[in-house]
Amino acid sequence: MEPIKDFYQRPLHDIRISVTDKCNFRCGYCMPAEIFGPDFAFMPKEQYLTFDEIEKLVTAMSEIGVEKVRLTGGEPLLRKDLHELIAKLSRIPGIKDIALTTNAMMLPKLAGKLKAAGLQRVNISMDAIKEDVFKKMNGRNVSTKPVIKGIDAAIEAGLEVKINMVVQKGVNDDQILPMARFFKERGVMLRFIEFMDVGSTNGWKMSSVVTKKEIITMLSEEFEVEPADPHYYGEVADRYIYKGTDTEVGVISSVSDSFCSTCTRARLSADGKMYTCLFATEGFDLKEAVQTKDHAGLTEAVASIWRVRKDRYSDERTEETAKNRPKIEMSYIGG
Ligand code: GTP
Ligand code: 5AD
Ligand code: SF4
Ligand code: SF4
Repeated sequence: MEPIKDFYQRPLHDIRISVTDKCNFRCGYCMPAEIFGPDFAFMPKEQYLTFDEIEKLVTAMSEIGVEKVRLTGGEPLLRKDLHELIAKLSRIPGIKDIALTTNAMMLPKLAGKLKAAGLQRVNISMDAIKEDVFKKMNGRNVSTKPVIKGIDAAIEAGLEVKINMVVQKGVNDDQILPMARFFKERGVMLRFIEFMDVGSTNGWKMSSVVTKKEIITMLSEEFEVEPADPHYYGEVADRYIYKGTDTEVGVISSVSDSFCSTCTRARLSADGKMYTCLFATEGFDLKEAVQTKDHAGLTEAVASIWRVRKDRYSDERTEETAKNRPKIEMSYIGG
């Protein structure tokens, strides 16, 4: 076997799979409505990997260490019959954790079916609790009500739930404390995410990032929080616990305190390209490989991509790289 050239020697543990690049929201930091308008050319469905192809790829990946699968998009629940894919993935030996990142709109209808198929966890995007801020941020004038209904449906179905809030200075930083109060009361983990320069359309500036330090300072003014241990190697969120409770709160500091040195994640786009970083400029097309190679051949194809991985974009990020490096949109590559 060739030597591993990874700068940090990181194993591959997680695969994040985008099952569609479409979404029913238009969050400004991800799919700004001015760009992703009615004429935007999303991927034709015929280009999607089939569920059987995804199963084959994940089976090959599990041979080289993948234990965790996260389904993303776009909005993954827009992909028809997603529970069928989950059922296939949950039968792969070696896959211990199946999770989904969603905006929750379709969970009231689908949560029970997804759980029955083998889904364990959902991370739900919710950026504000105040109606007008939430409506503006999702770009589709959607109220918080259906999202809260989706969160309740997931909890009721027995799924583990975390909430993700991307914080943008001057847009929703006044929602940090109201969101913390709302989810602390319900005993649900909320994670604040530093706004990142993903893609090339979200108008990112360093000055629009609210840092982990600022978030913790703000939280500490009202709550007593204590650092908690990570749950697994390479966890992206720093965890804290509200003193005297079992409820946790987290911060994902991908800008002010990046975590590339323990990044064990690869991504697979809906049309079958593997990316070794969220900020990669090029993917490795695995569609033909999955259609032509046997299990051993496919495993070697994936291993040979990972073996030479050197990515550490967030460790190297500057205002310049954010502006000048070409980047793939997050809705395509899979958040
Ligand atoms: P858990 O398995 O619940 O710990 O999930 P997760 O935090 O890995 O997944 P989720 O989809 O909820 O990710 C939350 C956010 O963390 C993403 O939307 C990104 O903003 C950020 N993030 C996740 N993975 C990466 C990564 O590999 N690189 C960077 N820079 N940011 C990431
Ligand atoms: N910065 C940070 N996180 C982002 N997401 C999308 N765009 C960004 C960005 N610019 C993440 C959020 C959301 C998930 C679907 O994608 O975590 O919950
Ligand atoms: Fe859709 Fe999630 Fe992107 Fe918002 S952040 S536009 S919900 S994929
Ligand atoms: Fe991993 Fe790339 Fe994110 Fe760094 S920037 S944590 S290497 S995906």
